[in-house]
This record gives sequence, structure tokens and C-alpha cells, in this order.
Amino acid sequence: MDKHEYFSGVPEVGLVPRAPHAGPLIRHLFEQEHGRGGFAGKVSHTYHLYPPTNWLPGETRRLDAFAPGWESALRPIGGLHHALAVPAAEPARDVYRGMARLVANATAAMNVTVPGAAMDYFFEHHSATMVFFVHAGRGTLETTFGPIEYRPGDFLIVPKGVAHRFELGPGPHHYWMYESFAGDPEKAEAPTTGRFLTHGQSDYRFPRSLDTRNEAGRFEVVAKVDGLYTRRVHPTHPFDVVGWRGDYLPYRLAVEDVRPLVADRSHVPPSGHTVFKLPGCYLCVFTVRSVEKEGMWLPFFHRNLDYLETLGYHFGEFFSGGGVVGPGMVTLHPVGLPHGPKPRALEAFMDGRTPAVHNEVAVMADFATPAQVSELALGLSRPGYMDAWSAYAGDPRFAWRADRLAEARALGERLADARDALRPPDDEPRT
Ligand SMILES: [Fe+2]
Repeated sequence: MDKHEYFSGVPEVGLVPRAPHAGPLIRHLFEQEHGRGGFAGKVSHTYHLYPPTNWLPGETRRLDAFAPGWESALRPIGGLHHALAVPAAEPARDVYRGMARLVANATAAMNVTVPGAAMDYFFEHHSATMVFFVHAGRGTLETTFGPIEYRPGDFLIVPKGVAHRFELGPGPHHYWMYESFAGDPEKAEAPTTGRFLTHGQSDYRFPRSLDTRNEAGRFEVVAKVDGLYTRRVHPTHPFDVVGWRGDYLPYRLAVEDVRPLVADRSHVPPSGHTVFKLPGCYLCVFTVRSVEKEGMWLPFFHRNLDYLETLGYHFGEFFSGGGVVGPGMVTLHPVGLPHGPKPRALEAFMDGRTPAVHNEVAVMADFATPAQVSELALGLSRPGYMDAWSAYAGDPRFAWRADRLAEARALGERLADARDALRPPDDEPRT
């Protein structure tokens, strides 16, 4: 086997020929290409014991009502903020039969699944690359390219067309799943911060070993194309791969390995926390980080004028949520509608009650407009979320006062040119 233990410029595992589609080995193994961009983009080659098209005759059929929640009808969201309740666990449903769509635009979607049942089939998404975020649960993502272990706080990227199966560990499972219909997620990177902030591709964990199965039986594969689900049955295990080479691969990114940007004297905008860019969508992680020492340490009041915002709350105190959201919930903030800190959080800021650490993990996925909300999501919407900001209308601290304009002008005289404490020393006083 020594001759196989060399390092090439393209990742590879196991038995592969010197080059794709070449050499004598391809007369004895069955090569398959997973190709993006009409075979001119990212590509991987897998080497199988048996032909990948050995499905049993007469066994292929369309599955009706396979995942009804995934096909939940979409509606315009309008000018209301929504807070979605934690969905109830679904002990009888597996990862995909229980998949529920929340929002979508033409090129991306957000879904949630709370599975309790094992997958007795393999799944292939032929319309999207999927980005899972594991809110709760641990297990193994078994793929054509080998297994990937996962646990809460992990992103799992399952490229379009790759056969896989979730082996669930014990305990509750709760995943958010983002679909990218028009391309694979790209690592977000600011031109001035380089390859390793806020994370690097070195933090991606690819399958490192094959779990080759030389097994005979009945192996069902369910493929999704748009809203249609089709089942086929193979007489050999789909993970009969003895080697692969390429850069079109599933992988894991642990939130723990995202080392966030912080700014002592100002507020890093959400875009500074982007980890993945998808066509028509960007994914940000707000993770445990130190609090800004001066300047705004809360989100500023804002309107996102081009995106519908979704925010999934994973862990922590959610300082900006003002006590109205909890782990597992998702909020939806429509395009254009102002939002920002809830009154309690803003009072803490105004009173100088500055914590040392933002002790939270939340995943934000924003969808370019036009984006829509599903009927299923509207069914999870808790009444009264708009009222979470109502103290701004009723609390005397924020309510109308006759002397407010004069007060603001006086404050401006005193504070508009005030300087930060964290700054270089004066050589000479400035005027
Ligand atoms: Fe927002």
C-alpha cells in the first residue's frame, strides 16, 4: 500500500488511480464523478465496488407526501416581526420526513427538523447543497466520502447530490437546515483580515476515513428534486467506496472554531460575523465574545433594506432579546421593518450596566428579497412579539416630554465632540 501514501494537491482517501478516467485501475473499479458547473466546476471522483446505477428494475417510484412540512406553502410576510416557538419533538419522524420549511426565496431557504426516528433509507438532495446547524443532538453523518461525527454547535455541509444518512445518537435532536439552490456556500472573508479570521478553511473537518461497506440487500435511496421525492432500491450498499479524490466534499465547521471580530470602541455590524455566503443569503454566527468597552455594545436600531432576517437562538442569554426569546426559537424580521434592542436591554446600555462577555450563540441567516414565510412558520408564530418593543411607547423614560428637544440640544453641546477614553495620549490640547 505504500505507493498510495503520497500527498497530492487535491484531497484523496483510499484507493484511487493516478489520474481521473485513466490507468488500469478503472477497468476493475467503478469510477463516478460528482461534478458542479456542468463538470467544469468543483468535482470529486469516487471509486466503487459496484456500478452506481445498479438499481433494481421495477422498484423506482415517486413518493407522495414524503415530507409535507418541507413543501409548506409560502406566503408574503408583510410588515410584522415574528417569534417562532420551539417546534415539538417528532419521535415518529426522521430528519427528512420531519423537515419543515420556514422561509425561502428563489435561491435559498431555511428549514427546521426535530427528528426522533432513524432513517431507514439514504437521502440525496438533487436541488440544493444543505447547511445544517446542530442546535441539539449528536450523531454521525454517514456519507459516500466517509463518516463525520457531529455534536451541538456544529455546521454540517452536505453538498448537492451526495448520498448520506444521519445516524442519530441518544437524546433530543433539533437542527436548522439552510438550502442553497444556486451554488455552494463560500467562506466569508474580509479582504483585509486574511484567511484565518474569523475562521479558516483549516477549521473545516472533512471525512478522514472510509467506512467501506461490501454488503448485499435492499438499500433504498430517496432523491429530492424540487418538490418531488423519488425512491430507488439498490442491491448493494451505497457506501461501497474504496477511494475518492476531489474538492467537492461534505464537511463540518464547529462554532467553537469561529473566533469572532470584536471592536473595543465601536459595534461590529452583523456582516462582520458572516461565516458563509450563499447566492441570495448570508449566514452569520454571533458567538461568545467580549463586550465592546466603549461605543454601542447592543445592536443598533436598524432596518435591513434588502433582506429578510432570521435568527436562530442556540445558547446563552441573548442580551438583545430582552427576555422574550429562548434557546431553539427563531425570530423573523422582515425587510425594511425597524428593530433592535428590546427596552430592557437598551436600559442596561443607557445606565452603563456593561457586561464583560456576550455569552450567547445565535445563527443569523438573511434572505434577499423577495423572500416569503411558510404557513407552517406562521403556525409557530407566538402572538404579541411586536409588543416586545412596547415599552418604548409606554415607559416614561422613552415617552414624549415637552422638554425633550431642549434636553437633546443641551446634551449635544456637551457630548457631540466627546472623545473616547481608549485613545492615544494628547501631545497638546486640541481645540
Ligand atoms: Fe436585525
